[in-house]
Amino acid sequence: MTQRDLDLNLLKMYSFLVFSKLEGAVTSGMIHLGDQLGLYRSLSSFPQPVTSEELAASLQLHPRWVQEWIHNQAAARLIEVAIDDQGIERYSMTPEAVVVLSDELHPAFGMGMFHRLPQTMHSLKVLPESFKTGIGLDYDSHGPEGAVGIERSFEPWSRSYLLPVVLPALDGAVQRLEAGALVADIGCGAGGAAIRMAQAFPKSSVTGYDISRFALDRAHEKKTIDATDNVHFVDPRVTPLPENESLDIVTAFDCIHDMTHPQDVMQAIRRSLKPDGIWLLVDIKALDTFGENMAKNPMASLMYGISVMSCMSSAMSAEGGAGLGTLGLPESKARSMASAAGFTRFRKLDIEHSLNAFYEVRP
Ligand SMILES: C[S@@+](CC[C@H](N)C(=O)[O-])C[C@H]1O[C@@H](n2cnc3c(N)ncnc32)[C@H](O)[C@@H]1O
Repeated sequence: MTQRDLDLNLLKMYSFLVFSKLEGAVTSGMIHLGDQLGLYRSLSSFPQPVTSEELAASLQLHPRWVQEWIHNQAAARLIEVAIDDQGIERYSMTPEAVVVLSDELHPAFGMGMFHRLPQTMHSLKVLPESFKTGIGLDYDSHGPEGAVGIERSFEPWSRSYLLPVVLPALDGAVQRLEAGALVADIGCGAGGAAIRMAQAFPKSSVTGYDISRFALDRAHEKKTIDATDNVHFVDPRVTPLPENESLDIVTAFDCIHDMTHPQDVMQAIRRSLKPDGIWLLVDIKALDTFGENMAKNPMASLMYGISVMSCMSSAMSAEGGAGLGTLGLPESKARSMASAAGFTRFRKLDIEHSLNAFYEVRP
């Protein structure tokens, strides 16, 4: 199979490459613990650098465990450490670390994917079967915490940008929402975007559709807490989208590539929308070919891996699943699928996002 003899230097480098992936996976587990145990939140709340004992005491945790954990974090360069002449280690976080690791309200908060890491990794136990049968696992296979992880992944950006940036970029959407619009949010997850729109536009009525019972449970819970009357959450297999061209606006955030039958869903969206309705399609920024994604997306290996464990798995979770997956809906494909579903206008919106592309799609 190999064209040349084994090179011992290359062998060392290749082994390092492989184990650096394990380092990332193990450190990701430590990030999960830091988030779940409140270690980042506590560390960031100190006005000055602290020892690991002080950090442990602030959370009533065992000091030896916190010490080993923080050694991982400092060695991974995620947390700052200063060691004084007496060998005392004091730890702190840069402002950037605070934002990504502990500031739930900042759009760059990044703990959502780490929240659901155990559930995502657990799928490795059952995925070998999927490789044989072709049938993957839907979002509910990750349990209720999987839904919370998705919520914590997408809420921070949505909270800051949906109302002030995204909706105003759509032609006439805000005026229609203010006047009172019928809105559907497809693949609504835990309902954050739907509730946000309903609260901002009390004359409008918003329905969130999702097939995940854990996501719907969470959405119902939030609706109750927020006492928002003009939002509803349903399972589209029980209550499908209306078929009478009655909706003003449909939104779909990061979900079409996860669906087993995305073309059918696009057709259903088309049937639900008024002739002058608006579909806001938000999906992962992908390029047309694997070669382009590999060359231009520094996160490509992460995304293909997440696809196997989550997105493509969901998109293959029923017989005949389209299996688009995380990077499976580049603009060209979104355009052609929307056209096949009967949409005639397709406009990419000028919105900056590290992960997503935004499109206004019209009948
Ligand atoms: C990555 S999550 C995004 C959730 C949400 N839009 C957000 O931004 O937080 C994808 C969601 O699509 C849902 N989904 C998958 N197939 C679906 C379908 N056919 N109809 C409705 N929702 C679906 C999943 O259950 C999951 O909640």
